[in-house]
This record gives sequence, C-alpha cells and structure tokens, in this order.
Amino acid sequence: PDPAALARAEGLIARTPDFPVPGVLFRDIAPVLADADALRTVTGALAAPFEGAFDLVAGVEARGFLLAGAVAIAAGTGALPIRKAGKTPRPTASVDYALEYGVATIEAAGDLTGRRVLLVDDVLATGGTLRAATQLIERLGGAVAGVAVVLELTELGGRAAVPAAHAVFTA
Ligand code: PRP
Repeated sequence: PDPAALARAEGLIARTPDFPVPGVLFRDIAPVLADADALRTVTGALAAPFEGAFDLVAGVEARGFLLAGAVAIAAGTGALPIRKAGKTPRPTASVDYALEYGVATIEAAGDLTGRRVLLVDDVLATGGTLRAATQLIERLGGAVAGVAVVLELTELGGRAAVPAAHAVFTA
C-alpha cells in the first residue's frame, strides 16, 4: 500500500481519554471506515500478507464486521460474523475471554471444516478477543489462515496471545 495513503488513514484514528472507563485511551477507527480512500487503503493492507491463502473472512463484533465485509468483497470471499453472546440462534461453538475492561463470550454458528479463515478486527489490545476468536474458528473446524488488525496497542502486550498477528498500525 501507498505509504502516504497509509499515513493519512492512521491520522484519522480517533483517540478519546477515559472511555469507556477512567484510564483507558479509546481508539476508534470509525473515521477511517467513513473515509473512502482510508477504508480502501486499510482494507488492502489488512489482507495483503494473506493474498490467496484464505477463502473466508471472519470479523469480531462490532467494528470487525465492517472490516470483514470490506476485505471479503475485495478478495472475492464470503464473510463470517463472530458475535457476542446471545445473538446467535444456534451457536455451534462458544468461547469465554477477558477484555481490557471486562469479560465477554463470543459465539458463531456453522461448520468451517476445510475453510481457510482470515480473522480481522479493529484493535489488538490485550489479545483476549482475537485469541478467543482463533479458538472459536478452530472449534468450528476451520483453519486460521491469518490474523490481521488495523491497530495494535503494543503496551498492552496482546501480541503474546496472538503471536502471528499482522498489524497495519501500531501505537
Ligand atoms: C474491542 C475491539 C476488539 C477488542 C480488543 O472490542 O474492537 O475487538 O476490544 O481488545 P482485547 O485485545 O483486549 O481483547 P469491544 O469488546 O470493545 O467491542 P465492540 O467492537 O463491540 O465495541
């Protein structure tokens, strides 16, 4: 991807102190998604290392859904929503995990046997979400072809949970 376009997209990431709880500097990629050039640039950068290696793109609720849909269309694959607990009528796998600020459960439905799945999300913080999503894909029978995030928050050490993660930006 074009370095100038990447730098411009990175500059659109919003930073809000003390949200959703005191002490957390919240990074929001919504302005990146809302900008046509930045969305195309970031979508391309997420998938570039895994070109030809995946046939399904999974995204974690909620911002990951938007990224997964965009990457899937660009790559010519389908998309899989990994949802928070209670939203999937007949989940076939469920994984509990710890967040930077709280606890959560993710679920998905279906059989991923034989599928090569690229897992995408907006932020890698503690890594709990993406590690749980990786486990979920494997429990569904799928193979994780790659993990890609828009922004890795290096100080939180999440890379230890998902060592192979590809981060477009780091902070
Ligand atoms: C945020 C973010 C990632 C996750 C990263 O989602 O979108 O999915 O936290 O944190 P971790 O690496 O410490 O697990 P959040 O749970 O806030 O949900 P949302 O996307 O619905 O706002």
